[in-house]
Amino acid sequence: MTRKLFVTTALPYANAAFHIGHMMEYIQADIWVRFQRMQRDGDAKREVHFVCADDTHGTPIMIAAEKEGITPQQFVAKIAAGRQQYLDGFHIGFDNWYSTDSPENVELSQGIYRKLRDAGLIVTKVVDRFYDPVKGMFLADRNIKGECPVCHAKDQYGDNCEVCGAAYQPTELVNPFSVFTGSTPIMKPSEQYFFALSDPRCYTFLKEWLNTPGRLQPEMVNKVSEWLGVAGEKLADWDISRDAPYFGIPIPDAPGKFFYVWLDAPVGYLASLKNYCGKNGIDFDALLNDPATEQVHFIGKDIVSFHLLFWPAMLNFAGHPIIDKLKVAVHGHLTVNNEKMSKSRGTGISPLRYLQLGMNPEWLRYYIGFKLNAKVEDLDFNGDDFVARVNSDLIGKYINIASRCAGFIAKKFDGKLASTLSPKAQQWIGRALTVNGAERQANIAANFDHREYGKALREIMEIADITNQYVDENKPWILAKDPEKSAELHDVCTTALILFRQLTIMLSPVLPQVATRVAEFLGDDAYAWRDTGGAAVYESMLGREIFAYNHLMQRVDAKMVEELFDRPAAVAAVAIAAPAEGIEELASEIKIDDFTKIDLRIAKIVNCEQVDGSDKLLRLTLDVGEGRLRNVFSGIKSAYQPEQLIGKLTVLVANLAPRKMKFGVSEGMVLCASAADEKADPGLYVLEPWPGAKPGMRIR
Ligand code: 2FM
Ligand code: ZN
Repeated sequence: MTRKLFVTTALPYANAAFHIGHMMEYIQADIWVRFQRMQRDGDAKREVHFVCADDTHGTPIMIAAEKEGITPQQFVAKIAAGRQQYLDGFHIGFDNWYSTDSPENVELSQGIYRKLRDAGLIVTKVVDRFYDPVKGMFLADRNIKGECPVCHAKDQYGDNCEVCGAAYQPTELVNPFSVFTGSTPIMKPSEQYFFALSDPRCYTFLKEWLNTPGRLQPEMVNKVSEWLGVAGEKLADWDISRDAPYFGIPIPDAPGKFFYVWLDAPVGYLASLKNYCGKNGIDFDALLNDPATEQVHFIGKDIVSFHLLFWPAMLNFAGHPIIDKLKVAVHGHLTVNNEKMSKSRGTGISPLRYLQLGMNPEWLRYYIGFKLNAKVEDLDFNGDDFVARVNSDLIGKYINIASRCAGFIAKKFDGKLASTLSPKAQQWIGRALTVNGAERQANIAANFDHREYGKALREIMEIADITNQYVDENKPWILAKDPEKSAELHDVCTTALILFRQLTIMLSPVLPQVATRVAEFLGDDAYAWRDTGGAAVYESMLGREIFAYNHLMQRVDAKMVEELFDRPAAVAAVAIAAPAEGIEELASEIKIDDFTKIDLRIAKIVNCEQVDGSDKLLRLTLDVGEGRLRNVFSGIKSAYQPEQLIGKLTVLVANLAPRKMKFGVSEGMVLCASAADEKADPGLYVLEPWPGAKPGMRIR
């Protein structure tokens, strides 16, 4: 049976240009897709449909458009127009790029909704919602600000305080106001539509779906199992409606109600596929109904609940034909030099800047591929490591083989490869391409297939190492000086190029452009994976005439990588020339006595862990030199992984009255910097003293 793969990446919000994290996900999926496209099932080529779209609906886009004085459709179209340069630039081969604001998505979303309703899984409840009486609009938690009910910091969002980390309901804010008009929100009852996830059928289905072997990564099975609870008791109904005005898809038979953006966003996967099928004469329904079709989503770890609870449940109860073949591949986040990316700190990398600097996209594809595995782990882009990895592997090991041997074939043998190989050459080919008697290609293929790209590439580089060892031992540049060694030279260069071709085929999911150029140079058609095994390895190469070799790839210049980041010097110059934008107003003047009331101490973070049930807090165990350890909760989960903090020194407000929180008592507060405008920079930055400070020292 020919496998048919329907592959997607997460649909990006149509409110901003791509960042490097998007490119990482697209590169991960693209490598997988290209690998799959090289496969044959029996004699037939595997069929792969790789689609994406802009995720267009929701309040933020509606408001952003309003600010620019254009319609949401115009706003989204502007963003969409900027996509292709990135995709082409990094060789991301989507078959279709579409939009959730499309007729297909309206039809499919409403269709799924109707089926859920017919199945008795849509319920309505009247709930009190915040409402801006001036704007005439219901408000999301993030649209409301006010004074933190715990520490009384001003200008805090409706769901949590960025100063003290407390999480609360918007109703608890002191002096709440709408971010749109500054008016005081009122409570207004509104009928809302819910997807009844608490229905026992959902639990029964999800439990089985999750635990189907091979479908999800083990860490995801564990995480989602926690969300289900022992018997589904933790599954709450999901509010899928929003009131007008809202940029979204109308809910059938519910005037003035729209689907919440996360209801129609994943349906956008199907809408893009349907649109693509329409354009290419493919029967969409037949494709989805085909038992050979598998649906694979590549997503980041931050949107797991939508993809591993709501989406499969929606599809299942709407009678989606290939729910049994739905797989979700979750990746971690991309950090830069071990930090979350931030423009203002100069740690962000813009993919467009990368291309504008003339950096080779395949360097990044290789580097990201090398660091990727099938786990839900964060991946760090480190500038020095990037330069070293690319120059050592791609240039020093791989390209080097061709650049040392190709010239002799052209110069000495009229561009023709040898028509036989010596037994020694054959032995070396065997040595390079097999391990313990088995062909390496099968193992490399399995690693690509299982998204263990790092492992696949390491093994490919072992082949390159052996090939280089062969070239080093036989020294074609010395053989070339002795006319009597001409046959030997021919044998060695032919062998090296046969192995170079093998390396190219195996690297081609990662380096598609280099592979195309190598195919031209060697006179090959498009490469298929089956060319990496058995006699296909060299039979067709013997006696073949090849073309002129042009250098395939430059080394990375470390200076280019420096240019990728906003250098601190440049940032400082700007800062001196003009005050930074959006800087917070100074608090009113205090006397030194006021300051000394606050006892600030150096604390060592001896442990740090996630807090079950909180998406804001981390639990810190601190040594403040008191002969006991303190427990402190801090609302910095969005900015740090626990492992990043363990062992570091920081600054604690040590004489703050202990505070009882939902998860335990917090004995003090860790200091953190943040921007006044959270939209400009959502980062939180924990303070760290200079080396030499010891736990317990006072800050004065
Ligand atoms: O997190 C995001 O960027 C969302 N726009 C992803 C949506 S994925 C799918 F559901 F559309
Ligand atoms: Zn607070």
